[in-house]
Amino acid sequence: MSAPLLRVENLRTYFHTAEGVVRAVDGVSFTLGPGETLGIVGESGCGKTVACLSILRLIDPPGRIEPDSRISLRDRDLTAASEGEMRSVRGNEISMIFQEPMTSLNPVWTIGDQIAEALRTHRSARPAEARRRAAEMLRLVGIPNPEQRLDEYPHQFSGGMRQRAMIAMALACDPSVLIADEPTTALDVTIQAEILDLLARLQEQLGMGLIFVSHDLGIIAQIADRVIVMYAGQVVESGTADELFGRPRHPYSEGLLRATPRVGRRMRRLSVIPGSVASPKRWPPGCRFHPRCPYAWSRCREDVPPLPGEARASRCWLEEEPARRTGGWDELALAEDH
Ligand SMILES: Nc1ncnc2c1ncn2[C@@H]1O[C@H](COP(=O)(O)OP(=O)(O)O)[C@@H](O)[C@H]1O
Ligand SMILES: [Mg+2]
Repeated sequence: MSAPLLRVENLRTYFHTAEGVVRAVDGVSFTLGPGETLGIVGESGCGKTVACLSILRLIDPPGRIEPDSRISLRDRDLTAASEGEMRSVRGNEISMIFQEPMTSLNPVWTIGDQIAEALRTHRSARPAEARRRAAEMLRLVGIPNPEQRLDEYPHQFSGGMRQRAMIAMALACDPSVLIADEPTTALDVTIQAEILDLLARLQEQLGMGLIFVSHDLGIIAQIADRVIVMYAGQVVESGTADELFGRPRHPYSEGLLRATPRVGRRMRRLSVIPGSVASPKRWPPGCRFHPRCPYAWSRCREDVPPLPGEARASRCWLEEEPARRTGGWDELALAEDH
């Protein structure tokens, strides 16, 4: 396996609010190799966005990256970097795109100026050179007539085109890592598929490492090489996409997979995991998933299960007591039907 490009070790990001400590990300570790796509999946509220923003140190007070969290880019410790150094990392070595492009695009600047801005800041490009490169980037992401569209404003672009423009902006400085946080969630299915294809193609072409975040396992299945499943601020399962989709081990992953429609599989009904993610101010004791788990027994309510290793692992006591995997989701669904 190639050396990691990005390494996140024991990342904890807490919000110290007046109402208590919100443990949004609580001991997350993973690596990303060059040219690799890491999928991060989990329901809303599991800490995916906070984890991504932490990598770029875009967490505002009362949020804080807690001591002993470590983020490194190649051999460089980003947790020890100064704010000035982080400014040169953001949008340059590590770029991020978001669900809603309008939050990252400036409505009063033309698309061309916004792409050129990154090039002027990080590459000291002259205006003409920056404009030429901006047009080249728009062409790369499949925007027709790039020279004309450079002078248009974000509101003149459709949702799909805005997302393409944001990708162009993120890639202008040729980053080694691109973080895409639910980049297709706000788009309709056809456009979503186009953007996924575009990202996959660009990644292959440019060889960057891609972190792709989604609450939708179906999308992760299409794009990821490796996957981490997040629940309640932690990684509960990790593995290659084939391992995870072929044979999920954690009951939460199992539940997510059951809730994902798949081509060629007939389903009685589309199931959802009963209940919801607890509040990060008060994660349940023992296994954080136990209140929603169809297999949970006394040990799960009391003891915190470990995540043994990073490559292929499941944070679950079933790993030690596999015979307890009985009944499960089907029984739960039956009980619900009555
Ligand atoms: N600025 C903040 N202050 C307090 N809590 C926050 C803040 N930002 C995020 N959180 C909390 O952190 C948890 C994780 O949020 P987030 O990372 O956005 O989840 P996801 O992206 O997986 O949906 C949520 O419970 C959210 O309410
Ligand atoms: Mg999010």
